[in-house]
Amino acid sequence: MQVHQNYSLKKYNTFSIDASAKFFATFSSADILEDLLESNKDIPKKMILGGGSNVLFTKDYEGLVLKNEITGIQIISEDDEFVFIKAGAGEVWHQFVLYCIKNNFGGVENLSLIPGNVGASPMQNIGAYGAEIKDVFYELEALHLEEKITQKFSATDCEFGYRESIFKKKYKDQFAILNVTCRLRRNPEFNISYGAIEDELIKMNIQDLSVKAISDAVIRIRTSKLPDPKEIGNAGSFFKNPVISNLEFQEFKILSPEKVPHYKTDTDHIKVPAGWLIEQCGWKGFRKGDAGCYDKQALVLVNYGNATGKEIYNLSEEIKISVKQKFGIELEREVNIF
Ligand code: EPU
Repeated sequence: MQVHQNYSLKKYNTFSIDASAKFFATFSSADILEDLLESNKDIPKKMILGGGSNVLFTKDYEGLVLKNEITGIQIISEDDEFVFIKAGAGEVWHQFVLYCIKNNFGGVENLSLIPGNVGASPMQNIGAYGAEIKDVFYELEALHLEEKITQKFSATDCEFGYRESIFKKKYKDQFAILNVTCRLRRNPEFNISYGAIEDELIKMNIQDLSVKAISDAVIRIRTSKLPDPKEIGNAGSFFKNPVISNLEFQEFKILSPEKVPHYKTDTDHIKVPAGWLIEQCGWKGFRKGDAGCYDKQALVLVNYGNATGKEIYNLSEEIKISVKQKFGIELEREVNIF
């Protein structure tokens, strides 16, 4: 159980920001985590790090970073319709998806290639191409960092919302997610409602739909639009898509007579793509030093090499201000800022 001091986090965040942690340790089981918490009680600030795909370090971290490396994927029960698969929080999310695809279990194919680890997936209810983890989520186990008690959380307990869960709100920084159990379908039900998937499947000339074909289509779409963090540092969508009321949308249309892409989320609310708002403000493809707004998807901020977290943050602040000025809409960051 080695605790490193002044440890570089560059490899541990997909933005590739060269910040360091005052203390850093990894854990591969709940017991090791408990021991680490116990023996480092005097360090007041602690953070649990997963795949580092949704964080931006704007300065060095003055506490203890605990990197979750709990692995393992196993079927824990099954019936005629469903199979329940438990995955360690430190598993790479896409590896878990590939396991399901290989076995023809349905439910996570639309969520292919989302960066990050299994443990972070319920934290922010990851979603893409018409699906969210909440659709397949069964339960998770998490360790309370103060009380050192492991608790189970059902989907209802998690209070999932759009990129939201109880772990980002009421229980923020209180738990380490240890493992996640998903309920996959033995006979997959395909979800190709998201237009881009249907178009891609046609381009691929797919005759027989399968979880593999959908996963391949999603991978093709994602790689064409989103930068690979191994090549260009990024954390996926930097902002959430704003959800506004019908009334606000009417006012918004007066400011913006162009054809505005939008989706109804319920009878009273409308989601407007933040990428579109940012593009309309002229940021798409913008670069200042090594901090930039990606040229194929304006919602993604990028580090072209040696940008600091502060530079990326400052760019996000400028973007927020200009979107507010032009459209009166307040963008909310999806990425966690440290
Ligand atoms: N758009 C633009 N310009 C841009 C980007 C987008 O005009 O530069 C407009 C287009 O009209 C496009 C629409 O926005 O049709 C939607 O774009 P896209 O399908 O790329 O999706 P998104 O709403 O920008 C969301 C998620 C992504 C997810 C995609 C696909 C959020 C914050 N982001 O992006 O999630 O992959 O849908 O389902 O909800 C992530 O969270 O890291 C992430 C990448």
